[in-house]
Amino acid sequence: MTVSAHRGAVLHFLRDPGDGRDAAAYEHHPDGLLVIEDGLIAACGPAAALLASLPADVPVTEHPDALLMPGFVDSHVHYPQTEVIGSSGRQLLDWLQDYVFPAEARFGDAAHARAVADACIDELLRNGTTTALVFGTVHRESVDAFFAAAAERRLRMICGKVLMDRNCPDDLRDSAASGNRDSRALIERWHGHERLHYAITPRFAATSSAAQLQAAGQLAAAYPDTFIHSHVAENHAEIAWVRELYPDARSYLDVYERHGLLRERAIYAHCIHFDAADRQRMAASGAAAAFCPTSNLFLGSGLFDLDASDAFGMRYALATDVGGGTSFGMLQTMLAAYQIAQLQDQRLHPLRAFYLATLGGARILGLDERIGHFGIGREADFVVLDLAATPLLERRCRTARTLAEQLMLLMTLGDDRVVRETFILGQPAKSRLPR
Ligand code: GUN
Ligand code: ZN
Repeated sequence: MTVSAHRGAVLHFLRDPGDGRDAAAYEHHPDGLLVIEDGLIAACGPAAALLASLPADVPVTEHPDALLMPGFVDSHVHYPQTEVIGSSGRQLLDWLQDYVFPAEARFGDAAHARAVADACIDELLRNGTTTALVFGTVHRESVDAFFAAAAERRLRMICGKVLMDRNCPDDLRDSAASGNRDSRALIERWHGHERLHYAITPRFAATSSAAQLQAAGQLAAAYPDTFIHSHVAENHAEIAWVRELYPDARSYLDVYERHGLLRERAIYAHCIHFDAADRQRMAASGAAAAFCPTSNLFLGSGLFDLDASDAFGMRYALATDVGGGTSFGMLQTMLAAYQIAQLQDQRLHPLRAFYLATLGGARILGLDERIGHFGIGREADFVVLDLAATPLLERRCRTARTLAEQLMLLMTLGDDRVVRETFILGQPAKSRLPR
């Protein structure tokens, strides 16, 4: 048995802290200890109490000026779009045509796919993200490459092959039959292998025929513990187009519901232009939204309504949506979420922002028994956030009086420099460069 311990300030969540006044929603140990046995959390608490019973031969790593937290969870990201982040232009549909589809066309090449998968995972780990729900491309090879790269680093990751059988370039088109066959083969190969999970991934209703969505829904019913991963209600032109393609549906979301694609572990990116019935259907079905604030700003898509979502009990967590999103960092994502709330005269408390990037993400993915907090037996994927990473952060943190103030500074001033280390199953994993 391998045992190690990490000493520093420790923060993790037990439930949604809401407006920040629910002190029982989180545990904060200003001088805390995390004890790890064989990659799992064995204890988490005040250092003074735990050190007394820790065997003398257990190595204790000290983390001064730092906050230890569960690794971040990115609930929606496109690994192939690592190649297009920061491509300026018009809104969603033109951006897909001009940048995304040409870049994705290269992922039938397994070597290219593997190189980009490695680059994307490097970025995620550099930014403290330890689990993500990930789009591949339409090519089977893209998913093989991503899962192989994730397995090599022992990551808990979710990925899927894009289903797209119409309204797209020929070299990115599958068919209802081939998409179904390939998805099934990938589920059999990867779902439940090591720490990996499969997501059935229709790109969006505009690029799938009804036959393809139907087959996806049947597959989701046949494999109920797989994920479903798609986009909905992101952009006005997209919504008008889906209305033309599916004139009988009550709403864009209803297209998915009619095809059996709303259930627990179904994650829909964006969910911006929703009505009350959509929010109610999301909440009742157990499906959840990935709120992608930097993408929504970059593509000019609109403002996710946190208060309306909360009013219906619709669950959501934070996501980068790279390459529509402008950063792999969940700290920058939290700041953009805060700003989107502000633009609507809504509040996002910094404690809640950190919840939505950790346990909140694990919860909507149904993975909170394994990751997202420091309960005993959880997987020891965690980050060490450096409160003195930059001169300005150090200066401002010196005068921060409360945990909430500290968190607000981390999300306002922080980037990957703040992530001093990222641990996977108790092992340092931020950089593959020699240390
Ligand atoms: N809708 C369909 N495909 C995409 C995509 O790749 N990115 C975003 N942001 N929205 C989409
Ligand atoms: Zn997306």
